[in-house]
Amino acid sequence: MGRVAGKVALITGAARGQGRSHALRLAEEGADIIAIDICSQIDGVNYGLATPEDLAETVELVEKFGQRILPIQADVRDLSAMKAAVDQAVNEFGKLDIVSANAGISPLGPLPLHVFLDVVNVNLSGVINTVTAAIDHLSAGASIVVTSSVAAMMKGGTEGQGPGGSGYTFAKRTLVDFVKDLARTLAPHSIRVNTILPTNVNTPMLHTETMYRLFRPDLENPTREEAEVAFATLALMPIPYVEPSDISEALLYFASDASRYVTGQVLAVDGGQLLHDIVLG
Ligand SMILES: NC(=O)c1ccc[n+]([C@@H]2O[C@H](COP(=O)([O-])OP(=O)(O)OC[C@H]3O[C@@H](n4cnc5c(N)ncnc54)[C@H](O)[C@@H]3O)[C@@H](O)[C@H]2O)c1
Repeated sequence: MGRVAGKVALITGAARGQGRSHALRLAEEGADIIAIDICSQIDGVNYGLATPEDLAETVELVEKFGQRILPIQADVRDLSAMKAAVDQAVNEFGKLDIVSANAGISPLGPLPLHVFLDVVNVNLSGVINTVTAAIDHLSAGASIVVTSSVAAMMKGGTEGQGPGGSGYTFAKRTLVDFVKDLARTLAPHSIRVNTILPTNVNTPMLHTETMYRLFRPDLENPTREEAEVAFATLALMPIPYVEPSDISEALLYFASDASRYVTGQVLAVDGGQLLHDIVLG
């Protein structure tokens, strides 16, 4: 028996990166998957978001585990689209047990001021929309898992990295409060809410020219190898980043009944980065 056998999981940002990894890990453990992704570009985001081909690849990979998957192209900023997507999925699968609010953007660097709000609209309002669309379908035993970031807990976070950086830290920090208050509200109904704070994760969000330049301002055109030297200064453990599968293991714990009495928790998967931040004072 898989650890989430017979459950139905909604995952946003499921076309690639951590979202795809979550879909595969939960499917491997017996869940059916509702895979939502925008699969198009957002104005002001200075790196490529996922494509319809990426989402199709997630579908193919999940099906290899023999689980059902319903891919839906939808924007988490659009509440009515999210409600329609979740309603359609629940109609098809009959229920909803797990919500992974994972979709996010991270446009850093010198960008227009409205990018602050673009990031907040996806990373904060998008999470709230996802939960709003799901909530009436959840019942006792259900689990909501929100992807925040270590930026939520770091002094300054990604502030100083343009309006998108400020928006990113604001959104991720606010999500921690949102999770705790929502957990308090839903606990009497045996619905749990937890959040994961990843350090740098080895996904397309991290591997952009802008990100490499931010970490290596001393170089004009830093390579991945040169950026990784700087990435490795974040965690206390000797790693440049964690893998998406490391975050999926945390998600699987929160999603499964193994954590049935765990709610309102904030779990950093960060190789000790937040300890480092405290040490740095
Ligand atoms: N990669 C990192 O270093 C890192 C670190 C800490 C936290 N995070 C967070 O982890 C989450 C997953 O990011 P990732 O690393 O897999 O990055 P990613 O860019 O590879 O994946 C994000 C996915 O979200 C989708 N998406 C973006 N905006 C959307 C929208 N409006 N509606 C629907 N889908 C949308 C993208 O198309 C993409 O498939 C994000 O919330 C991110 O902020 C990432």
